[in-house]
Amino acid sequence: MSAYRNLLARLAASPQVWLVTGAAGFIGSHLVQNLLKAGQVVRGLDNFSSGSEKNLEQVRLSVGPDLWPNFELLRGDIRSLETCRAACAGVSSVLHQAALGSVPRSLEDPLHTNANNIDGFLNMLVCARDACIRRFVYAASSSTYGDDPSLPKREDRIGRPLSPYALTKYVNELYAGVFASAYDFPSIGLRYFNIFGQRQDPEGAYAAVIPAWFSGLLQGRTVTINGDGETSRDFCFIDNCVQANLLAACSDDPEAWNQVYNVACGQSTTLNELFVLIREETARHRPETAAAQPQYRDFRPGDVRHSLADISKAETLLGYQPEYSVRQGLRKAGAWYTENLQAPALGV
Ligand SMILES: NC(=O)c1ccc[n+]([C@@H]2O[C@H](COP(=O)([O-])OP(=O)(O)OC[C@H]3O[C@@H](n4cnc5c(N)ncnc54)[C@H](O)[C@@H]3O)[C@@H](O)[C@H]2O)c1
Repeated sequence: MSAYRNLLARLAASPQVWLVTGAAGFIGSHLVQNLLKAGQVVRGLDNFSSGSEKNLEQVRLSVGPDLWPNFELLRGDIRSLETCRAACAGVSSVLHQAALGSVPRSLEDPLHTNANNIDGFLNMLVCARDACIRRFVYAASSSTYGDDPSLPKREDRIGRPLSPYALTKYVNELYAGVFASAYDFPSIGLRYFNIFGQRQDPEGAYAAVIPAWFSGLLQGRTVTINGDGETSRDFCFIDNCVQANLLAACSDDPEAWNQVYNVACGQSTTLNELFVLIREETARHRPETAAAQPQYRDFRPGDVRHSLADISKAETLLGYQPEYSVRQGLRKAGAWYTENLQAPALGV
């Protein structure tokens, strides 16, 4: 049995109280769902700035009436110290996801990104430390690799940040390091690489590429590729990300703490390849999308050309073994987007 399957069996036998910040968001809602299904008690904190009630409603339906009462929602903002204090009370483990995502958003509004991602993070660290929480795992980001060209990305080698968003995520890591050395407060940072899956928001100017393309193809719009399409990413299905979080939070290996880990698949996919894969998935459900072609436009400022993770550190120290390839993840995501997005009106 994998370390993860073992862990799920162990968790079921010993329920704990968890705090998931950003619980109404894409990754947070999957963490809540999987924790509840593993028999845990979960408090979620969210201010609904980018998360939605709909996401939590889907969690409720997925876990069913027996497990849903084990979830408590706190509506609030991590920029408030008092809110963070209330959220941390009585909790044994924290999975901190709340932040403003998106590189372009941060380039347009660095102040807002800074306040949410740095002030909010520091509030959470202070309150988790004061509440003597021993397991604090936070969402870091592959954007921290910045302008370092080396591939694959190894945790110990980073470049200069290319956006305010990347800077905020790096500052999180620096603060976590200072809290470990100055206050003996341990944490683990997970550098997510392009996580995708059901419930990732396809709407708005800051939508990530996979939901934006599923939505474009399924709703009959032309999909655009920034640059020549040979830009590549290490896309990682949400269930792999959930696995990394739970393994990190439950690790009893002292060597594993006060570290950052890449969370990815260790597979490179270009945007041109991704387009073909997504089109294959949409065509399974809507054959009329099989002939769709993308439109190319300029490269986007702040985007790195290639991103590919070395995941050996998470494999070795956490027992992380991604269970879903990009193609397998796209199959699940595609079925969800098809069911949840409106098709274009007939005859229009
Ligand atoms: N999705 C990815 O590929 C990816 C990659 C790297 C890092 N991350 C990080 O993972 C985390 C989760 O990302 P996601 O993709 O689920 O995004 P998301 O926008 O779906 O979720 C973020 C959640 O945090 C909430 N939130 C934001 N600011 C808040 C605040 N001040 N107080 C309380 N709640 C607040 C939002 O309402 C939302 O529900 C973020 O920290 C993000 O930076 C994500």
